[in-house]
Amino acid sequence: MAFDVVRVRRDFPALALKTAHFDGPGGSQVPHQVAQAMADTLCSGISNRGGVTAAERRADSVVTGARAAVGDLLDCPPGCVVFARSMTQATYDMARAMAKQWREGDEVVVTRLDHDANIRPWTAAAEAAGATVRWADFDPATGTLKVDHVAEVLSPRTRLVAVTAASNLIGTRPDIPALAEAAHAVGALLYVDGVHLTPHAAVSLPGLGADFYACSPYKFFGPHHGLLAAARPELLEQVHPDKLLPSADTIPERFELGTLPYELLAGTTAAVDFIADLGGKGDGGDGGAGGGGTGGASRRARVAASMREVEAHEEALFDRLLDGLAAIGGVTVHPAPRPRTPTVLFSVAGHSPQAVYEHLAALGVNAPAGSFYAIEAATRLGLGAPGAVRAGISPYNDAGDVDRLLSGVRELAR
Ligand SMILES: Cc1ncc(COP(=O)(O)O)c(C=O)c1O
Repeated sequence: MAFDVVRVRRDFPALALKTAHFDGPGGSQVPHQVAQAMADTLCSGISNRGGVTAAERRADSVVTGARAAVGDLLDCPPGCVVFARSMTQATYDMARAMAKQWREGDEVVVTRLDHDANIRPWTAAAEAAGATVRWADFDPATGTLKVDHVAEVLSPRTRLVAVTAASNLIGTRPDIPALAEAAHAVGALLYVDGVHLTPHAAVSLPGLGADFYACSPYKFFGPHHGLLAAARPELLEQVHPDKLLPSADTIPERFELGTLPYELLAGTTAAVDFIADLGGKGDGGDGGAGGGGTGGASRRARVAASMREVEAHEEALFDRLLDGLAAIGGVTVHPAPRPRTPTVLFSVAGHSPQAVYEHLAALGVNAPAGSFYAIEAATRLGLGAPGAVRAGISPYNDAGDVDRLLSGVRELAR
């Protein structure tokens, strides 16, 4: 079945409130299937993971099921999926653990395009280890981070490059496969922030060339937690985080501190299943950007096929939004050439970002203002912490939503 936005919208109970949600980059709405899976898990008779009682086995299968689901979503081995409270926490934990092996003179590269969650954990860990932080800038005139911007700060001492797959502020998408090649050429690892890309594209870790990829299910219809995936088991095996004496030293468990949130993991599995059912059925095709599909109508193939349909749906709405904004006098659309996610940052002359946000909110249109923790990028763009207004298209948006946003902006710009 082809992507059908009317059908998709019916699955989101929150849309009954008639709000037009352009706040997906901050967190998507949740389909009833995800909420149901969480409630079912909590009520199913569940205890800590184990193999003796049925309740233990249920917990165990929730965890293994969620790792398999994320493996299908990201095209990575299920045993390389680490669950965390948030992407921020996963990144801080991994940065601290990796930094145990960094020495004075080692270098870590971060970029000014990134969300702070993929900057500060690395700068803090580098500082504690005596390693040097090298900053890759982006071009504020175009909003793009080119491979050269990163290549010029690489050296044989670079241990890690941390970069976003898509800017959550302006949507631009750095060329991750080329950045992976550049990082690997000097012997560095590539840690990719996939939080903003994952809801908008078929992701394949092998296709991207990422060593680590962090994202957050609450941006793609799931519950509020984060995760980190490694491309290969050896990448996790080489890292030894602080852990409790009796807790498992196996991977990925040794990275997961304390008891896992089983109900959230069940919700994440349901979110991946929901994505797999969003669009066309898998055709045994390529299984995602550069990735090896698993053939037939496997969940992986269906996820990749769905995401291609999501992209087409979002692109069409995004064109309508960009054309509409460009036609309104006094509106500045902050530049971000393609390839990009369907996320736009704009300002309205004579009105603060907060005033635009509040005006739209009063009309039932959620398009928040700010710098969205991409504080380095907002500063580089000359916007500072107040930032601008951000509107992101999600799969459940329709043309009516876009027209409501445009008419709200038009009212203000008049
Ligand atoms: C691009 C990007 N990276 C990282 C994060 C942080 O994610 P979390 O809230 O899971 O820590 C966000 C959150 O908005 C984000 O948009």
